[in-house]
Amino acid sequence: MSSGAEKFKGRDIISINDFGREDIEIVLTVADKMLPYALGRKTAEVMRGRVLSTVFFEPSTRTRLSFSTAMLRLGGSVLDVGDITRTSVKKGETLADTIRMIEAYSDIIVLRHSSEGAARFASKVSKKPVINAGDGTGQHPTQTLLDLYTIKKELGGIEGKTIALLGDLKYGRTVHSLAYALAKFNAKIILVSPPELQMPAEIVREIRESGGDVWETDDISSVIKVADVLYVTRIQKERFPDPEEYLKIAGSYKITTELLENAKKSLIIMHPLPRVDEIDVDVDETKHAVYFKQAFYGVPVRMALICLILGEVGWW
Ligand code: NCD
Repeated sequence: MSSGAEKFKGRDIISINDFGREDIEIVLTVADKMLPYALGRKTAEVMRGRVLSTVFFEPSTRTRLSFSTAMLRLGGSVLDVGDITRTSVKKGETLADTIRMIEAYSDIIVLRHSSEGAARFASKVSKKPVINAGDGTGQHPTQTLLDLYTIKKELGGIEGKTIALLGDLKYGRTVHSLAYALAKFNAKIILVSPPELQMPAEIVREIRESGGDVWETDDISSVIKVADVLYVTRIQKERFPDPEEYLKIAGSYKITTELLENAKKSLIIMHPLPRVDEIDVDVDETKHAVYFKQAFYGVPVRMALICLILGEVGWW
């Protein structure tokens, strides 16, 4: 292929801010090519002999499994480090030494960690490419790429769309990366959260300084009338320093079919998942709900990233 794909070879994926809009568009274009392979309608062997490691210090269902299936669908192999407490981390091995070992056993490393900055640190230790699969309350750039892919597939584009990010905008890393990315596409960003869970002021400021259109409110019902996308998140219980504080806010917002009565017909509801109780299960049956499809789109998007980073481009 084409213009631009080559520059991904050997790159780490740490923060969405490392990517320009054109870079993101390359990933989304390649993801479209991957779709028939992700669905199992076509088969590929381009990654035969290559190994992708998944190193997850925090729980995961979708990110770990979709990276794994992406590599397997490309004919490659997956080395899952598994339960971290069964590794030498338990004996006191440092993150640096752990990464050095995994680097020796694989071609590409997917890391999730509870500390912000851990993925950047690992990428400095490792000569092999490192992909940030979530670093504490920091970022989750590959989730953002699949979120953008979902918006593009479902609504035909991202430019100029009104996108409401709802819920735990303080601790939720998916919304941190997504907000930065949406600004690059000139989307109108509305932040809706309880006052305790607002988007960090620094992120809002940076987006505004870069020319982004972003405003904050706590009034869900007025936002639902104008939104093209409602991106709902779970309250990140595990990140609250004080469990009492979590209990005060738990259950403070919930998307129900009644709340959606005044929504645009074309509104899509997204969620990075897991859902706890912030979207009523009745909403799943409406045309608005795209969150399960969104989770599937993680496969073609991650296939695209693996191909671009390992330099297997143009074979499709
Ligand atoms: C998210 C995460 O881990 O940040 N999950 C995911 O990767 N799809 C969201 C969450 O845990 O709430």
